[in-house]
Amino acid sequence: MVNAGPASQADRMLDHASIAPRPERRTASWRDGWTLTLVAAAAIASLALAIILAGAASAEAIAAAIRFTARTSFALFLTAFTASAAHRLWPGHFTRWQRRNRRYLGVAFAASHAVHAAAIATLAVLQPAAFHARAADMARAPGLIAYGFIVAMTATSFDRTAAWLGRRAWKALHFTGSIYLWAAFVLGFGKRVPQAPGYWLPIAFAAAAMALRVVAWYRGRTRVSRAAARGA
Ligand code: HEM
Repeated sequence: MVNAGPASQADRMLDHASIAPRPERRTASWRDGWTLTLVAAAAIASLALAIILAGAASAEAIAAAIRFTARTSFALFLTAFTASAAHRLWPGHFTRWQRRNRRYLGVAFAASHAVHAAAIATLAVLQPAAFHARAADMARAPGLIAYGFIVAMTATSFDRTAAWLGRRAWKALHFTGSIYLWAAFVLGFGKRVPQAPGYWLPIAFAAAAMALRVVAWYRGRTRVSRAAARGA
């Protein structure tokens, strides 16, 4: 995203680090790396199943699991989406963790959304009338495109597949996909605002996340321009 003038090596590294996945590293804590992804995915799948079983697989219980997984997906998505920007603006313990784990948080988001899809399929199979009532007014194509992006972004979140795709194509895919998914969340929550004004809250979070990225991008650009002017 930083694209002005000849950048210093440090700037180029920062630019690269802000977008491309970094080499995988092994860590002992469950809060890092693939263990974090696995723990998040297992917890979300177990809780969604518990919600469905506690409600005897009624339409309401399955719908609650669908909403629950949409929310866990949103939280994980925003944490990955803001990781580099937050670290650039407020370097610190939490944002370092966030940036270091953005790839694993992104894959955890994909896992959470796979559970969203599984809960939707459960509703369609066990409660077809409720499924048609709830999903009748939904345009399917935008949701399917979103899932297409999620699959493509997850498949290229590994060192080997990212290298195979190449840096430019990787950046284009992950940038376009993340903006599309951001919009899908805003629309998903936005259409529920007329029923419950509380849905303004996730929309405010999404707007703040986008503002954070724009400010961080602008700061990075200004810094590169200044460095270029000093070097001229
Ligand atoms: C074709 C694919 C999809 C279908 C059929 C679908 C279906 C549903 C259904 C039926 C609900 C409402 C459950 C209820 O309260 O009755 C729901 C909620 C939601 N979905 Fe999906 N969904 C799809 C894809 C997506 C995608 C790609 C996103 C975002 C990236 C998303 C985000 C949401 C959000 C934000 C909610 C609202 C959660 C809440 O009420 O708190 N969905 N979805």
